[in-house]
Amino acid sequence: MSLFIKKPLNQLLAQATDSETGLKRTLGAGNLIALGIGAIIGAGLFVRTAAAAGEHAGPAVTLSFIFAAIGCAFAGLCYAEFASMIPVAGSAYTYAYVTMGEFVAWIIGWALVLEYALGAATVSIAWSEFLNKLLGGAIPYEWCHSPFQKALIGGEMHHGIMNAPALIVLLALSLLLIKGTQESAIVNSVIVVIKVAIVLVFIWVGWQFIKPENHTPYLIPADAKPALRPDGTTYSYESVWDHGWLGVVAGAGVVFFAFIGFDAISTAAQETKNPKKDMPIGILGSLVICTILYILFSYVLTGVAPYTDFMLKGKEASVAYAIEEYMVGYGWLANLVSIAILAGFSSVILVMLMGQSRVFYSMSVDGLLPKVFAELHPKFRTPYKSNLLLFVFVGLIATLLPGDITGDLTSIGTLFAFVLVCVGILVMRKSNPDVPRGFKTPWVPFVPIMGILVCSTMIIGLDSITQLVAGIWLVIGLVVYFFYSQKNSQLRKKT
Ligand code: ALA
Repeated sequence: MSLFIKKPLNQLLAQATDSETGLKRTLGAGNLIALGIGAIIGAGLFVRTAAAAGEHAGPAVTLSFIFAAIGCAFAGLCYAEFASMIPVAGSAYTYAYVTMGEFVAWIIGWALVLEYALGAATVSIAWSEFLNKLLGGAIPYEWCHSPFQKALIGGEMHHGIMNAPALIVLLALSLLLIKGTQESAIVNSVIVVIKVAIVLVFIWVGWQFIKPENHTPYLIPADAKPALRPDGTTYSYESVWDHGWLGVVAGAGVVFFAFIGFDAISTAAQETKNPKKDMPIGILGSLVICTILYILFSYVLTGVAPYTDFMLKGKEASVAYAIEEYMVGYGWLANLVSIAILAGFSSVILVMLMGQSRVFYSMSVDGLLPKVFAELHPKFRTPYKSNLLLFVFVGLIATLLPGDITGDLTSIGTLFAFVLVCVGILVMRKSNPDVPRGFKTPWVPFVPIMGILVCSTMIIGLDSITQLVAGIWLVIGLVVYFFYSQKNSQLRKKT
């Protein structure tokens, strides 16, 4: 039987209608934008911006944000068409099952593990950095860093053992998910207001501390002086991906992380009052708002602190660092920002852990993963076993790997899923041209093709180790598919 066996679209649409009686349609476009911003603003902005500026783009990280936003906008337009056409609680995985068949759906589902599970790990590592900053560095280096990290502190070399705070926050949030604590719309709105407020305050206050010399030259020059690293070694900017315009592109792959989450809006399609109209507004609206905030924020951050600082001291909890070090008289703001960021990150981790268990749930119901991922708790009605297994997996990664590695793997997995969603629109326009769509991606095939090109460029710009690990992950996925999923697929059993 073909690798490309497809879930019939009618079957999915019938599911959507059925569930109208189950899930209440209460969300409007405004709620969706709030939901989006709640899931979007997080470690990408408050931690990865500094990494992208320090390693690849310098002050031109603002341009990296624009490049990443363009890729997201093209992919976002494609997501919006799918979400308005197949308004079921799904994701790229579900869309692919209908358009490109089971094999591609599997690959997307597998790539989404990188997005959600590793994304949750990355944000929990960032959470640990801000906690330590707030505590004035009271947690010993060994216990809040991975075994792959080391630093010279007071003339002595310290090696990481495990990132304990990251593990603790993941455990707490996994237990919360098992209890089924639904983040109420109100809690989410409060967190959104807090997050946007910190970004605005930082932009507002920091603007006065911008030093024009930090912005000159705007792109890292080819002959830039090497930057010092915490372990006493230096970082050279010689590679073509670490200076100039290609540095901007490589930086885009890194800060792309900051946009991840807008696609999660599409999972709320079944709870949206008028998905055909509100979905595109929610997806694109939150993208536009975040892009504007990100550009201003990164302009201020790289204006306040020289980008080389982010290689040495300011890489961790970069915003709090920049405030303490350069914004004299605003030390109190650093603490306030750290507290708010801890709360803000928690909601992002929660959304990601939940997203991951939902994707696994769907894949398990479809027979592509073992049933354990779809088993519900007798009382809480949540996929508790899945949540626990995920905690072990995400916890191990967050404890043992540095945030740079997990962050870039998250970016690559998501970019890959985006590319396939853009391909899906091209396929769907040919295979199902007549299915009503509330929102049609404009300028097809230009928009999806540009989405494919821009997102693929960012994949190429990510470093080779990230590409290699992602490749190995894909190979493992293929083995699981051919030895397990294909044999157990419900769709194949029925047909
Ligand atoms: N966009 C989310 C963040 O930056 C994943 O934390």
